[in-house]
Amino acid sequence: STRWPGVIEAFRDRMPVEPGWTVVTLGEGGTPLLPAPHLSQLTGCEVFLKVDGANPTGSFKDRGMTMAVTDALAQGKQGVICASTGNTSASAAAYAARAGMTCAVLVPQGKIALGKLAQAVAHGARIVQVQGNFDDCLELARKTAAEYPVAALVNSVNPTRIAGQASAAYEICDELGRAPDVHCLPVGNAGNITAYWAGYRAYAADGLIDSPPRMFGYQAAGAAPLVHGAPVKNPETIATAIRIGSPASWAQAQTAREESDGRFAAVTDEEILDAYLLLSSREAVFVEPASAASVAGLLQSGADGTLPRGSLVVCTVTGHGLKDPDTALLTAPAPTVIPIDPSAVADALELR
Ligand code: F0G
Repeated sequence: STRWPGVIEAFRDRMPVEPGWTVVTLGEGGTPLLPAPHLSQLTGCEVFLKVDGANPTGSFKDRGMTMAVTDALAQGKQGVICASTGNTSASAAAYAARAGMTCAVLVPQGKIALGKLAQAVAHGARIVQVQGNFDDCLELARKTAAEYPVAALVNSVNPTRIAGQASAAYEICDELGRAPDVHCLPVGNAGNITAYWAGYRAYAADGLIDSPPRMFGYQAAGAAPLVHGAPVKNPETIATAIRIGSPASWAQAQTAREESDGRFAAVTDEEILDAYLLLSSREAVFVEPASAASVAGLLQSGADGTLPRGSLVVCTVTGHGLKDPDTALLTAPAPTVIPIDPSAVADALELR
């Protein structure tokens, strides 16, 4: 069959699964690697977007969640628990529902996008809103999972998540027939940059690519601990998915930057929103604000000379625009309301 089997079956020899385990999949992965002509023109590079909002629950988290929930089921866990800025909780809720397991999510009160909350509700998760930020939620989730081991912690501190998310790097190399020169990512808790770097390194070690890309990680200016070199106590950004002050995979992200000759940089909310609108209006790719951070960074690095012209660049856009409808409508003009009348349509559209 030519049906895409999900990332565990697609890359089984690279996944920590044992024969006989029941694979919990929603057909994640196999997402488009889309040429971005407008961004290519602006940067003088050949730019591709890895459109990971096209995953089953609308974000890259599904790549890791299939692995984490498959593992939890094999370990006989009754449920899963996670801290989340929204996407991890949506993904955990869906995969747990598929596996017949319970799911509990700890989210920062009032700081997760509407679509993500709707997904967790729809998939039947127990939602606990914490009067704190993501960093507080993760600490609580870790403590709860340690004290009550009936639930598996499915945050990216769980190595199975990282193994699953590395699949995106494999797909990119398989499709391009090489690694990109530069890979741009938004960075929050730093699990994804850790996963990509592990994936590229594995392919390089096996001789499937000559050399891995330089990893360029971008953080929102109000939540940029890796850029400043110190945790941020009260992170703030419109990109709620990456509103994180103390990334769990800090050391691994540093390693990825150092070993790849990469860089971390900060992008302002204004740069994020500009990139967000450019993506939807020019490339026709609707993403959530956190995803636009990688493109904002790409444009910034293209302009300040840190991105060599002529590079082959992949930018991962990590989550779908429908996740955060409130932000999409922020800049929308008031809708025109008309009676049922053809001449009113023509007037409204200024056709005469
Ligand atoms: N983009 C989106 C859309 C995200 O949801 C996240 C993280 C990131 C980028 C950053 O990835 O944390 O691996 O560096 N979201 C997590 C969550 C924290 O709970 O959904 P990272």
